[in-house]
Amino acid sequence: MSDLPELDVEPRVAAMLPPWTETMQYIRKSPKRAPVEVLRAAAARGRPVVQPRCGVGGHDEMRTLLTTLERRARPGILTITIDSFTRLKQFRTAAQTLQREPADLNGYPLVTHGWRRGRELNEAVDAPIEVRHGSPDPRELFAVSLASGFTSFEGGGIDYNLPYSKDVSLTRSLAAWAQVDRLCGLLAEEGVIVDRELFGTLTAVLVPPSVSLAVCVLEARAASLAGVRCLSVAYPQGGEVHQDIAALRSIPVLARRYLPENVEIFPVLHEFMGVFPADPDVADALILYGGLTARLGGAAKVINKTNQEARGIPDAQANVAGIRTAALACTHLLDFVRVDEATVEEETYWLQREVAELVEPVLAAPDLAAAIVDAFADGRLDIPFSASVHARSEVIPKRDATGAIRYLNPGRLPFSRPTLRRNEQCLRVDRASLSRRLIDEIRSDINFFLHAERRFQADRATVECPGPATAGPGAAASSGGVR
Ligand code: 5AD
Repeated sequence: MSDLPELDVEPRVAAMLPPWTETMQYIRKSPKRAPVEVLRAAAARGRPVVQPRCGVGGHDEMRTLLTTLERRARPGILTITIDSFTRLKQFRTAAQTLQREPADLNGYPLVTHGWRRGRELNEAVDAPIEVRHGSPDPRELFAVSLASGFTSFEGGGIDYNLPYSKDVSLTRSLAAWAQVDRLCGLLAEEGVIVDRELFGTLTAVLVPPSVSLAVCVLEARAASLAGVRCLSVAYPQGGEVHQDIAALRSIPVLARRYLPENVEIFPVLHEFMGVFPADPDVADALILYGGLTARLGGAAKVINKTNQEARGIPDAQANVAGIRTAALACTHLLDFVRVDEATVEEETYWLQREVAELVEPVLAAPDLAAAIVDAFADGRLDIPFSASVHARSEVIPKRDATGAIRYLNPGRLPFSRPTLRRNEQCLRVDRASLSRRLIDEIRSDINFFLHAERRFQADRATVECPGPATAGPGAAASSGGVR
């Protein structure tokens, strides 16, 4: 039986764990740099480290994948992406699938492989490893991750529930994650710092920056009350560079405003998580742009995409290229690139104001977890396009003419009049005409970078075979294939 403090873990999994003192000893004695140290160094340098997503079912294949990515792309932090069965605690199905056909798993089933193999992966590479998943209740996975020596763990009680699960109550997911965070607190008291990354990316579809940041502030506050001392706050690249920079630069400011002083905060950019261009050249350009946005925004880390994103899970070669392209944008190569700082400043003001209006009423309540649950039930907190019955999803986002994401309909979010007016002014919409084609408009915003890709392809066609029959940009725009 496990003697793991704080975590209630299924007995079948608990029985397989090493004694807690042995896990502590293993982590303490590790000669590897801890994730928190890599993040500190990146923050001090002012250049983000790059981290891929990667996970395959088979153990030998996973080890080869990690060592290949390390040898050929040298990411600052590596990842084990966990399969969906394990995320949902379907450990038996994960084990059966692993036995039958490991390639049918969409990630590495760490609980099934167990902590000894986890340590083998940990020791096979120089870079520290983060466990990335999507579990509303990650307790077993966290226990095996720690026993494997992994001290970076993604997720939170809101952000790994509402975007992923249809009907898991927030009360349940917040309670499960609170156990994880309390164990991190105990570890911190013993000098072992676990980096807890919050998934501000949420549903990854037109997420208004203030929704992303508000959810992370609330989760960060809950985590720090539980004793967590290191938080990576991940924000999803929306595409409009001033808005994205304002969001990333706001993360430390919001942390100072709403979190205790003894918590280290690292801003993280997730490269564009929406519909990705299929053309490898366009995808590569977007990957470079993401790296540049991360650096200009002061991120400590950027999670790269690959030019196979439109097709699904990338192979090692595409991942190597994606890491290298994102990393290129974080070198001195593009140091001369500047943005309009006045625009960033204006975005920052309104963004922080929106976040304040969302989080302050919730933070004022005596019981934070209960206040979060109530706020989502009433729609005072909300997430667009959530599949969960525990979020109202009444918020309708929309891109303005610059590409920045605004609130077309704020649902029941408790915004002040000036905030609402600012959003309306940015959108300058003719509501009467918009209502008729709202779905088309939103679909078009979701496919933002596909339109850019279409224009690029049309331009390329014009250059490569000029002549009257060639499709120009206008033809592409009216071709109707992409909306
Ligand atoms: N390996 C690599 N990337 C993965 N993703 C999901 N599972 C894996 C995996 N096993 C990526 C998707 C997408 C993001 C949500 O996570 O390709 O980019």
